[in-house]
Amino acid sequence: MTIIKNGTVVSAEGLTKADVAFENDVITLVAPAIEAGAGDHVIDAEGCLIFPGFIDGHTHLDMDSGTSVTADDFASGTTAAVCGGTTTIVDFATQDKGNTLMHALESGHKKADGKSAANYAFHMAITDWNDETKAELPLMKEAGVTSFKAYYAYDALRVDDGEMLQILRALKPLGGVLGVHCENGTLVNALQAELKAAGKLSPAAHPASRPPVVEAEAIRRLCAVAKLADMPVHIVHLSSEEGLSEVRRARQDGQKIWAETCPQYLLLDDSRYELEGFEGAKYVISPPLRSKMDQLALRKAVINDEIDTISTDHCSYNFEGQKTMGINDFTKIPNGAPGIEHRPVLFYTSFVASGEQTPSDMCRLLSENPSKLFGMWPRKGQIAVGADADITIWDPSTKGVITAAAQHQAVDYTPFEGFETVGCARYVFVNGLLTATDGMPTEVMAGQYVRR
Ligand code: URP
Ligand code: ZN
Ligand code: ZN
Repeated sequence: MTIIKNGTVVSAEGLTKADVAFENDVITLVAPAIEAGAGDHVIDAEGCLIFPGFIDGHTHLDMDSGTSVTADDFASGTTAAVCGGTTTIVDFATQDKGNTLMHALESGHKKADGKSAANYAFHMAITDWNDETKAELPLMKEAGVTSFKAYYAYDALRVDDGEMLQILRALKPLGGVLGVHCENGTLVNALQAELKAAGKLSPAAHPASRPPVVEAEAIRRLCAVAKLADMPVHIVHLSSEEGLSEVRRARQDGQKIWAETCPQYLLLDDSRYELEGFEGAKYVISPPLRSKMDQLALRKAVINDEIDTISTDHCSYNFEGQKTMGINDFTKIPNGAPGIEHRPVLFYTSFVASGEQTPSDMCRLLSENPSKLFGMWPRKGQIAVGADADITIWDPSTKGVITAAAQHQAVDYTPFEGFETVGCARYVFVNGLLTATDGMPTEVMAGQYVRR
């Protein structure tokens, strides 16, 4: 048995001084003082917070965008994740047009099985909606997939409103949750063409091709479709105040809308696109970084409990050789940026150490809510007897600086270079196995598929 002594257990409800014991991969006791017996392994967590391992509900590892494969695969991406305190990720299995959902799930497993330091699950991204795809949905449930994804942008991936309606209706009897990438792809294509025709080819044109209204319009439309289907929906990577207004409008209308945002939209702004040379390419993500006003609006929404989850949308491409593919044309820059390693420390520093949020808020946004939303509760997202031994022991006393040189993400930059941080993941257990200490990996690939 392993006993974590002298720490403070964090839940979404509050903090409790308690010891935590686990045996193999299950938490067996949470009590004020647990006596260690012969053979027990004791960890001193004096001054530390004991969080249920953080869950990142939005990552893209070993993903082929059609022109590039992400720099991080499951080995490097999940190793980076555990170094930062994330013990479970939900990645994407994406249907190829003309192919089955099962094929997509099998290829997700081939990429991840036996190669992951963190636990992993898959959202199933539906890109080719037809009768065969519909017939496969119950099989997905049997295979442990309870969350799905659809895109309103990207020509190779997007579905139209009629298809979105049918997908939502088909998911209703299964109880599956649908996350949606909300950007109007038709408008994006038109704006990209206009900008290119005007000779605007640098990364600075990227945000101009995807302004907030492109996001807000898609959110509004999705909410209308969801209302028609009488289904809740999950808005992924919410980036703008205008988009947030649409979420509020639908909620006021009585709809159940979950909203996710990401550290990049809370901490970075669109001035990054004006950086010297081609540097702005590092921030070519979709939706793009927004104005300081948007950033402030989203930060307030986090504090007001209008945001349900904070995920990374980790999608790493090297600056050299991958982002540079778009040196003469911003539309050829692969979209995405890394973040899987740094989400907990960025949130802790910017919201908890600053006093704007509590450790319990962090637990709710980074552990409990994603667990509940994605069908992992009560096994994950809480420190409780019978829950999985996915545990992040957080030391709030340390200070650091984020650099690409020190990161474990297998990519040649970080958008958060030079950010000063407070706190670190001192010990990270995945299924009861130690996978990282003080931000360094133990190289134990303890991750298992999370059948939901
Ligand atoms: O730019 C991004 N976010 N790339 C990853 C794919 C997506 O849209 O989530
Ligand atoms: Zn997306
Ligand atoms: Zn994404």
